[in-house]
Amino acid sequence: MTVIDTSKITRDKGLVVAIDGPAGAGKSTISTRLAEALGYVYIDTGAMYRAVAYLVAQRGLEPNDEVSLKDLCSNLQIDLVATGTGLKVCAMGEDITEQIRTPEITRLTPQVAASSAVRAAMLLMQRKLGESGGVVLEGRDIGTVVFPDADVKFFLSASAEERGRRRYAELQLKGIDADLAQTIAAVRERDQADINRAEAPLKQAPDAVVVDSTQMSIDDVLELMARQVKERQQIRKQKGND
Ligand code: DC
Repeated sequence: MTVIDTSKITRDKGLVVAIDGPAGAGKSTISTRLAEALGYVYIDTGAMYRAVAYLVAQRGLEPNDEVSLKDLCSNLQIDLVATGTGLKVCAMGEDITEQIRTPEITRLTPQVAASSAVRAAMLLMQRKLGESGGVVLEGRDIGTVVFPDADVKFFLSASAEERGRRRYAELQLKGIDADLAQTIAAVRERDQADINRAEAPLKQAPDAVVVDSTQMSIDDVLELMARQVKERQQIRKQKGND
């Protein structure tokens, strides 16, 4: 268990908001909009793992070769740049925003994310990015491992069927041929990989606010979450005035 050096956590820019949950629960959309509404920085930690997977593929490394992965992580530059139309993701200075969303990288990322060398490197980067506060971090292990003392923690979920249906609708919109049953099965498969891995598995923090979005609209989810954050901001303000 890594102990956070709390003396470095100033939180002078605002709260640390952690949003965890399985793939396809709407985390990215919600996190982007929540960060926008709060004037906070949005940190997509999944995109960071995808960026590492991209470099692994580009350099022809084996995802289970810990020595090579450790070496890769010893000189790693990943930047998340906010643009008007979403996050730009760069690795070693190269814009790889589109490349990290291909099926190949999506398949490779869970394998790379299972590496303890990669997780240790991401942990440090993510803590650095969030230590001043004023951030919404989205991922699988933010409230449990990266920021166990986050000011507000959410666990955003939805049934596997619903997440599969949403993914299927997205694919159809993009004109990509897919099968609904197979899409739902793929969602379940990714859940199992995230839940069962040894390092920082996907799990609910005991103090997380659980939001089941199966039957909720994005606006309803956003309203509920923004209310929780505002309440926490209020409490913090009162404490500051005491
Ligand atoms: O959220 P996403 O689908 O972009 O995440 C990509 C992969 O990275 C997914 O397999 C889960 C993994 N991941 C992780 O292990 N820890 C995080 N904090 C975020 C994502």
